Order: sequence, then C-alpha cells, then structure tokens
Amino acid sequence: MDRNQAQHRIAELSGQLEDHNHKYYVLAAPTIGDQEFDGLLKELERLELQWPEFASPNSPTQRVGGDITKNFLVVQHKYPMLSLSNSYNKEEVAEFVARVEKEIGQTIYTMELKYDGVAISLSYENGQLVRGVTRGDGEKGDDITSNVRTVRSIPLQLRGSFPDQLEARGEILFMRAQFDRLNAEREQNGEELYANPRNTAAGSLKQQDPKDVAKRGLDNFIYTLQGEQLPTRSHYENMRAAAEWGFKTPDPQRRFIERTDTVEGIMAFIGYWDIARRDLEMDIDGIVIKVDDLRIQEELGYTAKSPRWAIAYKFQAEQGLTRLNDVGYQVGRTGAITPVAELEPILLAGTTVKRASLHNADQIAKLDLHIGDLVQVEKGGEIIPKITGVQLDQRPAGAPPVTFPHTCPECGTELVRYEGEAQHYCPNEHACSPQITGRIEHFVGRKMMNIDGLGGETVGVLVRAGLIHNVADLYTLEKDQLLQLGKGWGEKSANQVIEGIAASKRIPFEQVLFAIGIRHVGETVAKKLARNVGSMERLAVLSQEELVQIEEVGSVIAKSIIDFFAVEGNRAIVGKLKEHGVSMEVDPDTVKPIGDKLKGLSFVVSGVFLNFSRDGIKEAIESNGGKVSGSISSKTSYVVAGADMGPAKRTKADSLKVPVIDENEFTRMIQP
Ligand code: IVH
Repeated sequence: MDRNQAQHRIAELSGQLEDHNHKYYVLAAPTIGDQEFDGLLKELERLELQWPEFASPNSPTQRVGGDITKNFLVVQHKYPMLSLSNSYNKEEVAEFVARVEKEIGQTIYTMELKYDGVAISLSYENGQLVRGVTRGDGEKGDDITSNVRTVRSIPLQLRGSFPDQLEARGEILFMRAQFDRLNAEREQNGEELYANPRNTAAGSLKQQDPKDVAKRGLDNFIYTLQGEQLPTRSHYENMRAAAEWGFKTPDPQRRFIERTDTVEGIMAFIGYWDIARRDLEMDIDGIVIKVDDLRIQEELGYTAKSPRWAIAYKFQAEQGLTRLNDVGYQVGRTGAITPVAELEPILLAGTTVKRASLHNADQIAKLDLHIGDLVQVEKGGEIIPKITGVQLDQRPAGAPPVTFPHTCPECGTELVRYEGEAQHYCPNEHACSPQITGRIEHFVGRKMMNIDGLGGETVGVLVRAGLIHNVADLYTLEKDQLLQLGKGWGEKSANQVIEGIAASKRIPFEQVLFAIGIRHVGETVAKKLARNVGSMERLAVLSQEELVQIEEVGSVIAKSIIDFFAVEGNRAIVGKLKEHGVSMEVDPDTVKPIGDKLKGLSFVVSGVFLNFSRDGIKEAIESNGGKVSGSISSKTSYVVAGADMGPAKRTKADSLKVPVIDENEFTRMIQP
C-alpha cells in the first residue's frame, strides 16, 4: 500500500467506524457485529501506526483513549455557561410563565428533561470536534477533550450540513444499567462501590488517562446549541437538526422533549415525568422549561447568573441518608409483628420522615441492620417509606445489631412463625390488646360494617374503658354508657355511634365475612366465598377439600378458615353477632346472578373513570364473571385504563402485549 492509498483507506475506515458508532450508541440500531467492528478498528490502528501523519486527533481509535493529560488546561468559554434558576413547586413555574407572558405575550415553550450529570461544552469547527470543556466557574473550565472523545455518543465528526462554527452543550452521564454493571464489576473485584451515577460521571471525566475514562462507558445528551449560524430560530427545531448531525438528542416519541403554549401543558409534562422518571434508563432531577423562540429568548435576556427565558422544575428528593435510632415492633390485628425503624427525621419529597417499615425479620437480617447505622431511606411511589440500604463503612464502633424479639412486645407471649410465611405472629389473639383493638377497628371500617362515628381512636377509648372486648360487644352498647365517657361525648356523637351500629345490621353478608377478620380473607375472597357458600353456617363446616374447590381459595386460605372456626371464642362471637341480627347469609334479593360475558378473562384496572367508581368498575367485572387482579402479568387479558393511568403500567402492558382498553370499550364488552 502506498502513501496515497493509506491516506485514502484511513479516511474510509474512519468514516465507516464513526458511522457504526453513531448507529450503535446514538440510534441504538447497529448494523454490524462487535467482531466485524473490532476488525475494522484494528486495521485502522495498524495503518495509523504506520502512517502517523494521517492519524487525526478525532480518529475513532481515540475512542478507546489517547494520550495521558497531566494537568487539564483551563480555557475561557466563548459563551458563558450559565445555570438555570430552580423552582420546587408548580406555583413558581406558573409565575415564570406569567412573567414571560406579561413581557412578550403568549408564546411556545419547549419542555425537556433535566439530566442529572455533568455539564459539557463541545466546540466544533468545520464539523470536527476541537474541544470539550467542563463548566468550571461558568466563565472558564477544564479542557478535557481527550476524555470527551471516549464518550461514544459524542460525534467526533458531524454529518450532513452543519454550521462552520458550533458549540453544542449537554450533559455527560451514566445510564443506570451501565452504572450498575460498573458496580457489579467492582463488587467482584472486592473494590469499594460507587455511590451514585452523577458523582461517578464527574470523577470519571477528571481521570488523567483517557483509557480509564473509555472503560467506564459514559453517555451524553445534548440540550442546547450556541453559534452564529444556527439552522432555525426554534430551539426545538434546532435540536432536531442536531440529531441529524449525529448528536444524541432528546427523543420526542418518548416525550423526552415536547412543546406547548399553555401552563396546563407544562404541568401535564411535569406530572407525567414525576412518575415516569422511575422507569427511565438514566437519572433526571427535574424538568427544564424554555421559551422556544431564540429571538424572544434574546429579548427576555439574562440575569447575572441565569437566563430569564428558562426555568428548571426540580423534583423533590425521594431518597436520602439518615440515622437509625431504634427499631420498634407493632402488633397488628391479626397478631402479625411488623418491625418499624425509628429514624432521625429527614425531609423527603416535601414531608418529614421519622419511621420506615422493615417488613419482617428476614428483611432486617438481609440489611444487616445495627442501631446507629446510617441508612438509605426511600419514598418511592409508596406511602410508607422503606430502608433500601446501609452505609456499612460508616457504622459507629460497637453499634449493636438489631435482633428480632422472641416474645410479643405487647403481651409477652412467645411468638410463632407459620410455615411458608415471612411474618412472626403473636398467637394470643383474645388477650393481646392491640389485636383486640385492631380487630374491632377493622370490623367497623368503611368496606366492612361501615359504622359511622367509630374510628380507630374511639375504638381504643371504648376498649380501654372496658365497654367492649370483642366485635359482638358493640351491639350491646348503650347511649348512656357513651355519654358517661365524658370528654368529647355529647348527644350527637353518641347517637351517631348507636345509630351506626344499628344500621350495620343491614350490611350484606359478604362484607360481614370480610369484617370478622379471618386471616387471608380479604375483600375479594370474602365476596367469592359469600357467593359460593351462601351462609356463615355452611362455611363453618366445610372441609379443606371442599374449600379449595372455590375459585380464589387456595390451601393457605382454606386452612386459615378452618383454624378460625376451630377456635371456640370465634364461634361464640359469630353466634352472638347472629343473635344481634347481623346478616349471616346472602340475601337472594341483593345478589345479582353472575353473568358470563367476561368469563375466563382477567382484568387490571388503573386510573380514574368517568362513569364508574373504582369499586364500581371492579364490581362490574366480577358480576359479569371476570376476575380483577392488582398487577399486570402475562395472564392479564385486558388493562382497563382511566384518566391518568400511570406510565409504568402502560409500559408494562405494552411490553407484555396486553391490550389496554378505555372505559367505553369496556362498557361495550358488558352490554346486554
Ligand atoms: S439548559 C443557560 N437544559 O442543569 C442554561 N440545562 O443549572 C443552559 N441541565 O449545569 C442550560 N439538563 O448542565 C439545560 N435540558 C437541560 C438540562 C440542563 C441538565 C443542567 C446543565 C446546567 C444545569 C443548570
């Protein structure tokens, strides 16, 4: 091969390799295999070694790391790198819009994700990457070009028709999967784990040897362009152009970027991502709202630190580190013991968190919890926060391990653990005070006996006053007894309770069955049992074999029902309830015959509906012979989606190819 041919082949290989890079790292649509790619890269490496005069600093060979940088050069930014003004609530976003509109009238906004990574400014001259500089103090930053070249989703050479001079700004970050992979590798090597993707990205970019940076597998998203000859005056359109030049830009189809001209549109975007961000492949810490028109941006101008044409809406932190002060143990109505972490108060997503559920003894053992540990607390989508990890390296000397008790913290009875269950139980159901109160509280609840005026607190007062010992005692209560309780009790409240108790005698049998609190017999199972068995009397004598014949009833539930009726005390209470006139059998007038339009189909219901309440739509499914389930699986026949169904559910349904129908389609399915 002569000099000319070498030069030609080097250019050809460089072009091909960059093209494959773009297909793989930006478009996620490779057209060749790894081996073939490596073959081309090796050939290029060989030629560059032989003809170093043709080896460009932007050669694809630099992706795996060029020369070591001793000290990063500090360089001046051509356009200062400003920061965004932050807001933490929707009111501030609305104020931003109002201020913009007051100055320039109605306008279009671009909304995009606020990537939680490290800001970078990339300079291109004639389409060649010439510099990559960190934000630094906004005026000057570190020249980390050799490290930047190793980030595969950053184009080294632009494609198509691009301006001669261009600065592309964006964020360098880790995809969560890559970060997890990195940590898994470190764990295997016995190295200390990285704390979070953002700090690790920042640390990686400051490595002196680009080869080390290349191994980390960083990624990049572009969020703005700077230059004298940008293709359009719309930020949104310019981002589309940047995608054509080979940059990784936000994908409109995945709602990574969107335009709107209303506050409502902005709020909807924020609302969507506040939930959907949990399923995203990278961390984001907010949403950025920008005036789309570059001329209007100029008109609105800048404050000393930030543009007046943009605002960031920051999501509230949902996790944080705090100290574990103690572990308490709660006894539920079924006797289940739940360990509860007592925490040094911490502000998460706008509320102060002092306690977190620890679920059971296994969970404590798995976390290897010690009192005094610094623990990772997470709010997630749930109401009760949980502990997701322990900072083992920060454990105070002599911190005692958390040990699960052997006896009930309330009544001292030895705890039991049933086979196949994770929970410990206090078996002293008739004399352990929180179990008594808990059972009565459950009994009076809205979906059970629905007794007005009796809440958790009142039940506690009645139990402590010795007026009631079990649910049947409610029916012997007299108004005078309530009035004598003194504080807080008047004619009105006493009447309400007495009337509520009387009215509960008309509650249908299926709810009574749920109310008496047989372990594992929830709302749905109670309904099935009531319809199939018909009465309490019959239920009490069914055998294990007969019970498991009933839909929804497995061996655990069947055993639990048999155990319940085996206890003399339970039979006595049920007997008394019957004497007081509580429904003990299905009323043939109120149970509608079950139709079979939805027979064999399983539904998941999500969101809110126009013509049904949530309970109503479930009722409609069951009364037509269908099944309702809480989570989407491959067995789900349909997801019935109302307004604001969660994006996580939709993604799950899509990935399992479960059809998602709306309420009108559902109504058509059950029409007579
Ligand atoms: S625009 C003039 N858009 O957030 C402001 N910034 O405080 C230009 N960031 O350091 C920034 N995602 O690195 C913009 N979609 C996005 C962004 C974003 C993340 C970072 C940026 C900057 C900080 C702003």
